Amino acid sequence: MPAWKDGRLGLPVREAVKLFPELEEYLDGRGRLDLSNRRARILYNRAVARAIFGLDIEYHPRGLVTTPISRYLFMRIFLRDGERVLEIGTGHTALMALMAEKLFGCDVTATELDEGFFEHARKNIKRNNARIRLLKSGGGIIKGVVPEGERFDVIFSAPPYYEAPTRGVLTEKEAVGGGKYGEGFSVRLLREALEYLRPGGRVALFLPHKEPLIRAVVEEGKERGYKVRDVRFKAGTRWRHGLVLEVP
Ligand SMILES: C[S@@+](CC[C@H](N)C(=O)[O-])C[C@H]1O[C@@H](n2cnc3c(N)ncnc32)[C@H](O)[C@@H]1O
Repeated sequence: MPAWKDGRLGLPVREAVKLFPELEEYLDGRGRLDLSNRRARILYNRAVARAIFGLDIEYHPRGLVTTPISRYLFMRIFLRDGERVLEIGTGHTALMALMAEKLFGCDVTATELDEGFFEHARKNIKRNNARIRLLKSGGGIIKGVVPEGERFDVIFSAPPYYEAPTRGVLTEKEAVGGGKYGEGFSVRLLREALEYLRPGGRVALFLPHKEPLIRAVVEEGKERGYKVRDVRFKAGTRWRHGLVLEVP
């Protein structure tokens, strides 16, 4: 399992500073990092990606600062080595797609809607010499994006999950899932996934600890015949849900 030299899944700040000395300017007198600063967060997460996971990641100037450890904890819940997987909305980092290929030896296809993020993802994939098929979505989720007839062991996503635009933290495409509780995107994904999964295949969704949202997605999953597992895990200070929905 990936870990720092002390055996933990985390990177001491002083080690991150060795990798990116620019981080020094965001340290207080007690050596604590100002993580409210976006540049500091990006540099620290780049250091984590490199030191713990062996990945060289560039973050887009206006994109979500995806944290490698939270994504790895999520992927460990549902992914098995060597599977054929599809990620919906890989974002500018392509971080989960890269982890699936590099750490789990998966055969990876990933999609992205945003033009700028798509290009950025392509560069991150190239930078890491990864073999990932990247598909551009024109607004579709799976249908109309992934060729018909293809089958996957797992379809996973950290989907947009807000019901309305957020205040400048995320771009609208990253954030807005639609529906009453932000479940719209996930619900549509669950419906479409049934045609693209192998028997026994799974959908896995990375979601926040928002009960009405989780309930709405779980209900939809059960109605569609999925067997649902809701794994709650802590990433940093936040609780997250890894929803794993298996087709019978
Ligand atoms: C919450 S972000 C997650 C990004 C990244 N996978 C991560 O783990 O941080 C959702 C991503 O989905 C993309 N997206 C939104 N709608 C999409 C669609 N219909 N097809 C593909 N990607 C989409 C957004 O542009 C954004 O990059």
